[in-house]
Amino acid sequence: MTTPTPPARPHVHGLFDPATWTVTYVVHNGPGTACAIIDSVLDYDPKSGRTRTTSADKVIDYVQQNQLRVAWILETHAHADHLTAAPYLKGKLGGKTAIGHQITAVQKVFKGVFNLEDGFREDGSQFDQLLKDGESFRIGDLSGQVMAVPGHTPACVAYQIGDAVFVGDTLFMPDVGTARCDFPGGDARTLYASVRKLLSLPAQTRLFMCHDYPPDSRPIAFETTVAEQRAHNIHVHDGISEAQFVQMRTQRDATLEMPVLILPAVQINIRAGELPPPESNGTAYLKVPLNRL
Ligand SMILES: [Fe+2]
Repeated sequence: MTTPTPPARPHVHGLFDPATWTVTYVVHNGPGTACAIIDSVLDYDPKSGRTRTTSADKVIDYVQQNQLRVAWILETHAHADHLTAAPYLKGKLGGKTAIGHQITAVQKVFKGVFNLEDGFREDGSQFDQLLKDGESFRIGDLSGQVMAVPGHTPACVAYQIGDAVFVGDTLFMPDVGTARCDFPGGDARTLYASVRKLLSLPAQTRLFMCHDYPPDSRPIAFETTVAEQRAHNIHVHDGISEAQFVQMRTQRDATLEMPVLILPAVQINIRAGELPPPESNGTAYLKVPLNRL
């Protein structure tokens, strides 16, 4: 009898951004190898409308200290709570930007909401590559696979790299639960199916969260396993039915306010992190749609 080869166990470095509760990951196979950067953050101050690169520069420091070659700059979805630093990182470090191919559906919806300029393309071409469910990609010696996990948004994907899965906004830590499903195109029933798909992976699979919103009783944490989620996730542990989940999620979503940065974040992130075209005075502007969201 032959024992199956165990999956690769990549190095995973998480950088937590306390302003947006987001975790940016750098995934690689050791110093001097290729890496992927997942869900980067461009700092944004909504009071002044100013962007900064303090968070992204920490990613650059880590990549340079470990002499990593950036193969990919990945997004799990078009985030509503932070701006992506993908173009800045690509300019400094190289690499290809990518997101789930359903981003085109999200672009279509928000092109309407923000009444964007005619030149705004809703074909995903702002990204270097659009990734489909089941598609494989290489990070040097490591192999990655795309898992479509819609529900929070229609375009959400998770990235499986060896024994590590970057789940985006599907699951949070077991004591926090799951992501909301009330944004345009979101759907609780769809998220339930995506979560069950993630939780059907081998029990010891490492799961890395896109965010953590810890209760006061514990420090920030963003790594768990399939086994821990199945046993303890407060929203979707084993035994919770689709109907129970949908009822809980729908009731809870009705109580949530919009994220502070949703308007700036979506406008920038559906452009793959580029600012809108500058107006005649050379300044780029964001819009606030009144009574739309
Ligand atoms: Fe999100």
